[in-house]
Amino acid sequence: MDFTQEDKKKKLYIETYGCQMNFSDSEIVGSIMADKGFEATDNMSLADVIFVNTCSIRDHAEQRVRKRLREFRALKKKNPGLVIGVLGCMAERLKTKLLEEEDHVDMIIGPDAYRDLPQLIETVESGQKAINILLSAEETYADIKPVRIGSNGVSAFISIMRGCENFCAYCVVPYTRGKERSRDPQSIMGEAKDLFNRGFREITLLGQNVNSYRWKTTREELNFAGLLEKVAGVSPLLRIRFATSHPKDLSDELLHTMAGNPNICRSIHLPVQSGSNRMLERMNRKYTREWYMDRVNAIKRIIPGCGLSTDIICGFSGETEEDHRETLSLMKWTGYDYAFMFKYSERPNTIAEKKFKDDVPEELKGKRLQEVIALQQELSLASNREDVGKTFEVLVEGLSKKSDRMLSGRNSQNKVVVFPRENYGRGDYVMVRINDCTPATLIGEPVPGPETQV
Ligand code: 5AD
Ligand code: SF4
Repeated sequence: MDFTQEDKKKKLYIETYGCQMNFSDSEIVGSIMADKGFEATDNMSLADVIFVNTCSIRDHAEQRVRKRLREFRALKKKNPGLVIGVLGCMAERLKTKLLEEEDHVDMIIGPDAYRDLPQLIETVESGQKAINILLSAEETYADIKPVRIGSNGVSAFISIMRGCENFCAYCVVPYTRGKERSRDPQSIMGEAKDLFNRGFREITLLGQNVNSYRWKTTREELNFAGLLEKVAGVSPLLRIRFATSHPKDLSDELLHTMAGNPNICRSIHLPVQSGSNRMLERMNRKYTREWYMDRVNAIKRIIPGCGLSTDIICGFSGETEEDHRETLSLMKWTGYDYAFMFKYSERPNTIAEKKFKDDVPEELKGKRLQEVIALQQELSLASNREDVGKTFEVLVEGLSKKSDRMLSGRNSQNKVVVFPRENYGRGDYVMVRINDCTPATLIGEPVPGPETQV
């Protein structure tokens, strides 16, 4: 290998905030930059270019990025040639304002403009600031083969659609990520097969609302259930997951497709946001508590033993104690295995910001959030206790964080399972009997089982 040549390669450091979509986008950015001759580094002090892929979903997410940008300012003082770019949702939301407020930032790039990065880098190298925040109705980056960043070599994400047109009243995403568009199934299949051939054993299909995936040409028409079935056909040894689903679009057809394909994981993330009809209406969620309960019943009926997780917002505009109690009661009724729980954070220019007052005091939001978290702890523990004595097929992701004599992986229901290492390794499927648990983890031991190892 020609090391002098290697050493001359410019170094790119990418830091990613926010959702899995953003992590997936950073892998696309990494690929575009590699074609431009950049090599990834995880040491930011060696970097010629630093990209921060940002999130706007809550004010807290933006504040974290602002803090980080201040730290990068010090690096730029030491190395004035350093290029700093802000990517993603904050770039799209704040546009040139971000260049004015953070004068050490050189580039602003929205989520649909990553193909333009090589040109924008050249603009910056010629001494100007560069910005591209155009949103597109078509861009899906279908032909770009993502570089896998921080991968465990076992599980990977595939982005299948972009954008969102649901306009939930609280949410900034329709404004930062633009119109909904689906990716060509052929390119999704190509990526899935390539990952499998390279040893990956679990794929998560990603989109802001995967249930509204739709591909239509004169020759073919495919909805999300159809796509899922196609990807599941790559190999019985490849596990398929997906995120995120909107309750209004969760069809029985999709549930039957899951039930009919054992390698589609028995796990659904179904954000409820609130258990109160009054709040759901105000949030523009387009379903009721009763509709949501019907969908949960359908999941339990069609896919017995399916894992269920959710997102919950505490203290949305106008939320009363009674509304809050409705959320707690729906959580209990459903018995979630896991939940992401947030205090409502008003976002500029959203429907809620324009129409409603952010009138639940911060302290009360915090109190309600604590109640929701405490209940979820109980529900997670109860759900894990039910699994003690059962045996699950676990896909090994690597060593457990606590001990290198233990391995860690997930069962189909998406629960983390740890067990003694023996002779197993990353990417193996192991049958594990559960002997014990914490609220977050199942603890077990390998038992003889179906020969599914690779
Ligand atoms: N404030 C708090 N949480 C929010 N989410 C989206 N927008 C907001 C907001 N303005 C939460 C929702 C969503 C998850 C990704 O983030 O629960 O499902
Ligand atoms: Fe954050 Fe939403 Fe953008 Fe993802 S899509 S980075 S969660 S604002």
